[in-house]
Amino acid sequence: MSSSRTLRIHELTPEERAVYAKLKPERLPEHVAIIMDGNGRWAGRRSLKRFLGHQQGARSVQLVTETASRIGLPWLTLYAFSLENSLRRPPAEVSFLMRLLKSYLETNLQRMMDNNVRMRYIGRTHDLPAEVQEKMHWVEEATRHNTGTTLTLALNYGGRSELVDAFRGLAAEMQRKHISADRITEQDIHRHLYTAHMPDPDLLIRTSGEMRISNYLLWQIAYTEIFVTERLWPDFRGIHLLEAIADFQRRERRYGGLGEDCGQVEEDPEQIRIAAS
Ligand code: FPP
Repeated sequence: MSSSRTLRIHELTPEERAVYAKLKPERLPEHVAIIMDGNGRWAGRRSLKRFLGHQQGARSVQLVTETASRIGLPWLTLYAFSLENSLRRPPAEVSFLMRLLKSYLETNLQRMMDNNVRMRYIGRTHDLPAEVQEKMHWVEEATRHNTGTTLTLALNYGGRSELVDAFRGLAAEMQRKHISADRITEQDIHRHLYTAHMPDPDLLIRTSGEMRISNYLLWQIAYTEIFVTERLWPDFRGIHLLEAIADFQRRERRYGGLGEDCGQVEEDPEQIRIAAS
């Protein structure tokens, strides 16, 4: 799993290297997804305007991505703008977030190239302002042949609307190919998700303490380990990503099976009833 990763450990900070040294290389996650929350609170605690929180949040995006690329993380998926954000936030804030995204793409392309990062997007991106879509496309094209971390930004994204889009796509395909509904498999649904080309996340990180999924990657996180930190997104750095991975490595993933500490397995379940009677 980790053998094909390109590592640039020497570029980690000494603090990051100390945490990384304790990780088990054979159990590094393939895909980390993050719900970046707390920009507004970060600003509020400093009596600053909310937009300054978003600006600092954009800086965290770049720094965390660079650490991810140094440890050879193949997939990093960040919840940058939800469908609900666009519907429920004041228009001035939505328009600021769009301008911030555009300027983030413009100013960080060189750093993405230097870090071998490939940029992708998921969500109903066709509804974003045309000039933002243009920049998105430009960066996606420019980074297309990079082979390090794929940074996917979820933009104008909602987990339920992704499922609606997937079911619409699948229904059209079934009609075209004359396939009956009772032949639908989980694989068919997976093929029609925005994330069909990537593995499901191993680890989902949420910053700023809320215990919610917020309509993020609903299908994909069925067996994902969840890590919630009180730290606000603008204060989140590469070292915190590594600490979350260390926590993830202490977990035992079961996928509905039995764990190591599950007690003895009865050879014959009938015996339990006999012993109890
Ligand atoms: C939540 O903060 C964060 C968002 C609205 C999404 C994340 C956006 C960024 C990190 C900014 C820029 C991103 C890119 C890719 C350039 P909040 O406003 O909900 O915080 P609060 O809950 O404390 O109010």
